[in-house]
Amino acid sequence: MTDAIRRHDPLVRGFASDNYAGVHPEILQAIALANGGHQTAYGDDVYTAALQEVFGGHFGPAARVWPVFNGTGANVVALRSMTAHWEAVVCAESAHIHTDEGGAPERSAGLKLLPVATPDGKLTPELIDRQAWGFGDEHRAQPKVVSITQSTELGTLYTPEEIGAICDHAHELGMVVHLDGARATNAAAALDVPLRAFTTDVGVDVLSFGGTKAGLMFGEAVVVLNPGAVRGLRYLRKSAMQLASKMRFVSVQFEALLAGDLWLRNARNANAMALRLADAVRDVPGVEISRPVRANAVFAILPGDVTERLQKRFRFYTWNEATGEVRWMTAFDTTEADVDAFAAAVAQELGSPA
Ligand SMILES: Cc1ncc(COP(=O)(O)O)c(C=O)c1O
Repeated sequence: MTDAIRRHDPLVRGFASDNYAGVHPEILQAIALANGGHQTAYGDDVYTAALQEVFGGHFGPAARVWPVFNGTGANVVALRSMTAHWEAVVCAESAHIHTDEGGAPERSAGLKLLPVATPDGKLTPELIDRQAWGFGDEHRAQPKVVSITQSTELGTLYTPEEIGAICDHAHELGMVVHLDGARATNAAAALDVPLRAFTTDVGVDVLSFGGTKAGLMFGEAVVVLNPGAVRGLRYLRKSAMQLASKMRFVSVQFEALLAGDLWLRNARNANAMALRLADAVRDVPGVEISRPVRANAVFAILPGDVTERLQKRFRFYTWNEATGEVRWMTAFDTTEADVDAFAAAVAQELGSPA
């Protein structure tokens, strides 16, 4: 028994972020399973050893997995290992590494980011070329990595072919490709393809694989698909403060997520709830669904006063103050009843019959 007190209502769910969700019960069970006794610290434990095979099953036997604490850490460690001090990373202007990591890639990895404006959060070979130039010019930070996000920060998806074209282009330029897969499971579920279809099979060199949004308590992983693309990961993970001493508890969560189909069940639910929400509000006068709904994000434009009233009832973020665009995220634990209640509230605040 515990002396802790439950201080929240576990039935209240919002649409602010997939990070607002709790931990999937099967993950909690796995953590309990790994508890007790002593295991060697810092990753030399039986759960972390088993993880190589689990990731190998998804990404191919050559894949090497490096568990870390969080997504910013995964990105920083991955990108640092892929660049020399004079090299730079081409990314979309909307990339999490550029907009939402507090400058960690610049401050902590000392990286130069070369952002490109995109209409939908997706890079293309043509867009990459806006920044991939000046090779050999000592005055310009040397473009070395193309970093893309799947699914993107704007809820859009790359097809495997689109990522393949990016990888081919980057490799022709002597560059390597990093994929921020904080929501890779949502992408695979939405595309109905295995995780390797848009990573290993099309030439991605390194990925940051997301666990937290997929149902873990915490934990992400750097997955190296091309060992020639990285240097010193073992040391960089520690110096970036991402080496967990009790790593077995990160690793066992990933085993629970990926050894069976939990990852797919969770991602499918989150995606299905986003579609259900978009469908429920699409025809409500005053709502404009502003981007294609491909994974577990819905973007919509609403009158500002409606957003304000709704935010008093449900948690969600305004994405763009100027346009009135809001972002609604669904999670592995979002229910049909959650979506229906929220959609009814949207209709009510807009004065439409539910
Ligand atoms: C695209 C993307 N990358 C990475 C992350 C990981 O961030 P964190 O450092 O919060 O785990 C997130 C989380 O919101 C994200 O959306």
